[in-house]
Amino acid sequence: MSYADLTFTGLKIADGKPEIPGLPSITASGSEAKTLELTCGDACAGLRVTLYYTILEKEGVILRHQKIENTGSQTLKLENAQSLSLELPAQEYDFLSLYGTHAKEANRFRFRAHHGVQKTESVRGSSSPQYQPFFALVSPGASEEKGEVRAFHLIYSGNFLAQAECDQFGNVRAQIGIHPDAFCWELSPGETFHTPEAVLNYSDDGLNGMSHNFHTLYRRHLFPRTFAGKECPILLNSWEGMCYDVSLDKIEEQSSLAKELGMELFVLDDGWFRAGNDSRSSMGDWTCNEKKLPGGIRAAAEIVRKNGLKFGLWFEPEAISRKSRLYENHPDWALHVPGYPMTEGRHEYLLDLTREDVRTYLKEMLDSYLKDGMIDYIKWDMNRPLTDVSSTLLPAEKKGETFHRYILGLYDILGWLKDTYPHVLVEGCSSGGARFDPGMLYYISQNWASDNTDAFDRTVIQSGFSLLYPPEVIGAHVSITPNHQTGRTTPLDTRYQAARLFNLGYEMDLTKCTEEEKNEIRRQTAEHIEERSRFLDGTFYRHDVPNDNYVMWSVVTEDECLAVVFQKFFDPLCSHGRFRLLGLDPDADYMDAESRKVYGGDELMQIGVTVPLVKEDFHTFVIRLKRAFCCTGL
Ligand code: GLA
Repeated sequence: MSYADLTFTGLKIADGKPEIPGLPSITASGSEAKTLELTCGDACAGLRVTLYYTILEKEGVILRHQKIENTGSQTLKLENAQSLSLELPAQEYDFLSLYGTHAKEANRFRFRAHHGVQKTESVRGSSSPQYQPFFALVSPGASEEKGEVRAFHLIYSGNFLAQAECDQFGNVRAQIGIHPDAFCWELSPGETFHTPEAVLNYSDDGLNGMSHNFHTLYRRHLFPRTFAGKECPILLNSWEGMCYDVSLDKIEEQSSLAKELGMELFVLDDGWFRAGNDSRSSMGDWTCNEKKLPGGIRAAAEIVRKNGLKFGLWFEPEAISRKSRLYENHPDWALHVPGYPMTEGRHEYLLDLTREDVRTYLKEMLDSYLKDGMIDYIKWDMNRPLTDVSSTLLPAEKKGETFHRYILGLYDILGWLKDTYPHVLVEGCSSGGARFDPGMLYYISQNWASDNTDAFDRTVIQSGFSLLYPPEVIGAHVSITPNHQTGRTTPLDTRYQAARLFNLGYEMDLTKCTEEEKNEIRRQTAEHIEERSRFLDGTFYRHDVPNDNYVMWSVVTEDECLAVVFQKFFDPLCSHGRFRLLGLDPDADYMDAESRKVYGGDELMQIGVTVPLVKEDFHTFVIRLKRAFCCTGL
């Protein structure tokens, strides 16, 4: 569309909030939300735009999206349809975003906003590990614990643009939405286009305040209802322990040991359908390799269930290998530009999810595995960005719709899965945390955060993701040491403490554990099972710490607080550290579970607890406090 002049035509205020057809969004009832609909029109262009503003007062957020209708008789072309645009007064802001790569996800990037445009974006077809569909405008000097934050998050899993433009007077315009590059949508007369939903979140309580608004919003109004607020099973994932070389004997051995050590779910990761022991073939066929697993997936599931665990299975439904029957039979099902060479990523291409026949194939394939009820969990992986983004079925004038149609296709399959198998727990993964976004979290209940399982790298990665997501959806596994990705050796206790407040799992060959390690793991799983229900809806804090040598997290409930402090290196000049708690009742007394000392809540928050530091690198300290009136049983 080359010109449009929209003028206000009407408004409506209603209780609740409308769903957005085909897209994930926040759900809220009439008593939880109120929505303002502003309608604007341009009779000459044949265009009507409805702007939706939903307020969720308790969660401290406003939701935005727009509906664009062609009311005329000509076909329109949408070239840029942002979800939110907000003018902010001239003042100093820091621009905060998250950047990363495979195995180094969710790092903070913060700088003083400057004149002109500053942005974070993805045109990789997915939200990507490079950037998160999020940014915040933060008052300079704001920290975890104090300061003003205006944050923007997009409930979408594809290309996005998130930007702040500071004009010549210092006024700032914040925008977030589908990336206009590689987007052009044809709107025929009578057709409607809906943008994804954006979340605007305000906190004057620092970054923790921002996180608490996001956590509460997503816990109450986004995550699949079957699993939201429920205890997450402790899993053993086969990937780091078995890699592609899976067998029934190993499954028997690992799952029986896992049960003995207190785990609850065994996940058979990649390898079960591969012709060989690498990533070069078989994607798309999804036929179990019975040379590896005689009797197929049913035999594997029976072993795991006989051993008293739930059974989970890995899929990468969107991928297709050149070496596969699916590719031989349907080469046109892969995204590709006819006449041009195709780009492989991890030896695979991506299926064209814009096609209904491809989506039907994938639903039938998943259904064939799920219908006998032997699978309790699916890990939905996706290991490459989108390239060669062209669909053979879309006419030339609709090619600009392919990226967005791919995501709509993905949501169609995930929506079918959620509706048909609401009791199957789905974990998202994309080479680790490459598609960890709120769009996915409408359909899935947890997300693998990173292929990097090193405890110390994880303190950065999980702190980053926790800015936006509550800890129970952030997958964190205890793995072996020296670590596969970093070669670093850390104590088993530290690896557990780094995962304990999150979605705890194990990812290692349990047969290699010493008796001492097995006893320690048994103690860890028992402790986690005992405490997890109490901390489920707890408030998660990242603490401002004395210096970069420390990371501190805590979870606080009405009566309890569990805090973990990570010490990177032992400093011979520091014999003790003092760490302040957050979120306690200043008027209550709390007892320390270890020392049985009683402290005032105000004292704990203003002065803190003094901890003798231990002469060990990568060491952790745990502080457990209970309100004094319920101390019995500590
Ligand atoms: C990705 C995932 C891993 C594992 C492998 C299997 O890299 O992030 O957790 O599932 O794929 O190929």
